[in-house]
Amino acid sequence: MTRMTIRQLLPLLAFTFAFVCLAMGSAQAFSRYNDGCPTCHGAFTDGTSPQETLFPNDNKHTMHRSNQYMATNCNLCHTADDENNPFIGSSDGTIDNPGLGCMGCHGRSADAGHDSISSGLGAGLRQHHNNSGVTACLGCHIDASPANYTPVGEDVFPTYYGTVDTAVDFPCNHVPTADQNENWSDDTDYIGLDNDGNLIYDAVDVTCVPEPSGTLLTLVGVTFLGAIGRRRAR
Ligand code: HEC
Ligand code: HEC
Ligand code: HEC
Ligand code: HEC
Repeated sequence: MTRMTIRQLLPLLAFTFAFVCLAMGSAQAFSRYNDGCPTCHGAFTDGTSPQETLFPNDNKHTMHRSNQYMATNCNLCHTADDENNPFIGSSDGTIDNPGLGCMGCHGRSADAGHDSISSGLGAGLRQHHNNSGVTACLGCHIDASPANYTPVGEDVFPTYYGTVDTAVDFPCNHVPTADQNENWSDDTDYIGLDNDGNLIYDAVDVTCVPEPSGTLLTLVGVTFLGAIGRRRAR
C-alpha cells in the first residue's frame, strides 16, 4: 500500500482499534503488542509499517533481536511465562536492566506519572501517534495529547540505550549511518525514532542541537583568542 492509502485508512483503522479495545474491556486487553498494535503494525514477525519503514528480512522481530542488528537480549522484551506474546510495559529484564519491556526503549522513565491509566513511560510514543492523526490513544491515555503534558526532550536516554543488553544507543542518532545508534532499518534516510513525539526526529530536534549559549561561548572564545593572536603579532 502507498503512504497515501494508509493515511486515508487511518480514521477507519483507529475506529476499529478503539472498538476492539472497548469490546475486550479489561485492562489486560491492552498489555501486549498483540492486543491491538497489529491492527496497524501487522505481526511483529512481518514487514508491515504504517510509515513504510523497510525492515531487515522484512521482519521487526529479527531487526530487534538478531546479533546482526540491534542484538537485544530476549529478556528485555520477553517474560518467561508470556508464551512468546510479550507485554508492552514489562519483561523479566536482566541483571543489568530492569524489566520494562518495550518501554525500556520506546519510553522514558522521566515521563512517568503523568498518565491516568498507565505508568506514563510511553507519553512520547503516544504523542507521536496522536500528532500523526491516530487519535484512539487519547481515548484512554490523557498524556497522548500535547495539550495535557509535554514529554521530556528527544535527548533523554531511554533506560536500555547504551547498555550491555543491546546495541541501540543515543536517542539523538547524531551519526546518520546504517546499523548503529537508533537506525537499524534498511531505509537510506538513516532516521531513528521520534522519542518525544513532536514529529521531529533525532539530531534536528531542539534538545539535540548544541545549546545556543554553547555556540555563543565558542564564538566569544575564538574572537578573544584571535585578538590575543593579533596583539602578539604586533
Ligand atoms: C490506528 C493505527 C495504529 C495503532 C493501533 C498503533 N499504531 Fe503505532 N503507529 C501508527 C502510525 C500511523 C505511525 C507512524 C506515523 C508516522 O510517523 O508516519 C505509528 C508509529 C509507531 C512507532 C514508531 C514511532 C517513531 O518514533 O517513529 C512505534 C514504535 C509504534 N507505532 C508502536 C505502536 C505500539 C506499541 C502500538 C500498540 C500499543 C501501536 N503502535 C498502535 C499507527 C498505529
Ligand atoms: C524487541 C522485543 C523482543 C525481543 C528482543 C525478542 N522478542 Fe521474541 N517476540 C517479541 C514479540 C512482540 C513477539 C510476538 C510476535 C507475534 O506474535 O507476532 C515475539 C515472539 C517470539 C516467538 C514466537 C514467534 C516466532 O518467531 O516463533 C519466539 C519463539 C520468540 N519471540 C523468541 C525470542 C528469542 C529467543 C529472543 C532472543 C534471541 C527474542 N524472542 C527476542 C518481542 C521480542
Ligand atoms: C533495545 C531497544 C528497543 C526495544 C526493547 C524495543 N524497540 Fe522497537 N525499535 C527500536 C528502535 C531503535 C527502532 C527504530 C529502528 C529504525 O527505524 O531504524 C524500533 C522500531 C520499532 C517499530 C517500527 C516502527 C516503524 O514502522 O518504523 C515497532 C513497531 C516497534 N519498534 C515496536 C516495538 C515493540 C512492540 C517492542 C516490545 C515488544 C519494542 N519495539 C522493543 C528499539 C527498541
Ligand atoms: C481502551 C483503552 C486504551 C486505549 C485506546 C489505548 N491504551 Fe494503551 N494502555 C491501556 C491500559 C489500561 C494500559 C496499562 C496496561 C498494563 O500496564 O498492563 C496501557 C498501556 C500502554 C503502554 C505501556 C505503559 C506505559 O507506561 O506507557 C503503552 C506504550 C501504550 N499503552 C500505548 C498506547 C498507544 C500507542 C495507544 C494508541 C494507538 C493506546 N495505548 C491506546 C489502555 C489503552
